[in-house]
Amino acid sequence: MKIAVVTGASSGLGEEFVRVITEKYDEIEEIWVIARRTDRLEALKTRFLNKKIFPISLDLTKHENYETLSEMLESEKPEIKILVNNAGFGTLGNFEEMDLNTQTRMVDLNNRALTAVTSVSLPYMKKGSFIVNVSSIASFAPTARMAVYCSTKSYVLAFSKALRFELKKKGINVLALCPGPMDTEFLPAAGIEKGSSHTFDTLPRVNPAVAAEKALRYASKGRGIYTPRAFYKLYRFLSKVLPHGLVMHLSKT
Ligand SMILES: NC(=O)c1ccc[n+]([C@@H]2O[C@H](COP(=O)([O-])OP(=O)(O)OC[C@H]3O[C@@H](n4cnc5c(N)ncnc54)[C@H](OP(=O)(O)O)[C@@H]3O)[C@@H](O)[C@H]2O)c1
Repeated sequence: MKIAVVTGASSGLGEEFVRVITEKYDEIEEIWVIARRTDRLEALKTRFLNKKIFPISLDLTKHENYETLSEMLESEKPEIKILVNNAGFGTLGNFEEMDLNTQTRMVDLNNRALTAVTSVSLPYMKKGSFIVNVSSIASFAPTARMAVYCSTKSYVLAFSKALRFELKKKGINVLALCPGPMDTEFLPAAGIEKGSSHTFDTLPRVNPAVAAEKALRYASKGRGIYTPRAFYKLYRFLSKVLPHGLVMHLSKT
């Protein structure tokens, strides 16, 4: 059985990944959708009728749940054609004012879970399979008031590049998607409401439907990084050539 696995599939960008896979990837027979909110995952079954949707309600910050996923894979032995590591969250605020549990949970979800899900999935991937890891423009340079979030996303970018290099000989591609702000549940959950940050209020928005479609297409064609919108491609370039002390002044949130 050929499957896709999408984490954080219950809303926003993750839901768009599921939609694109149902519409454009005929060879996929089943999509394993992972998140905590069972009702949202179940709703995907009625929304997308042309493919079998298999909801898996897991809190990926709980380490024992990696074992649960591993056991499910061991029992079904599917071929994973597409893995999308999308689950993640962020926060806006000075590090010393932030709650310790929230910051460490962010590392657990954005990094530890992404690493573990990749590790348990890889034995089921073959030549032609690919991985999309959702990073962010926050990975290009440190961002004050998002110290932990931008660090977790830098990890995702570096991990994706190194893994892509390692897996080339097996014919498995890895792409890091680096979007700018998208109007999903992410922003309010991060404490980024309208008026709370002039930078976020003025930054151009990325369309998650377009980002998901292009990320999957580029990943299937062997590309390593995708940054939607020219504005953020320019930011990526500037982050490479300018001192990060200066970039942090320009990107103050
Ligand atoms: N929106 C932006 O501005 C933006 C910009 C750059 C990058 N990103 C990245 O894009 C990705 C998707 O975010 P989004 O914008 O689509 O936000 P979103 O709508 O809040 O989606 C986040 C997803 O992660 C899942 N999730 C959260 N905690 C989880 C946990 N403990 N275990 C399992 N799943 C969990 C959520 O599902 P449940 O709540 O049901 O568990 C949800 O499906 C994230 O990695 C984010 O960092 C977002």
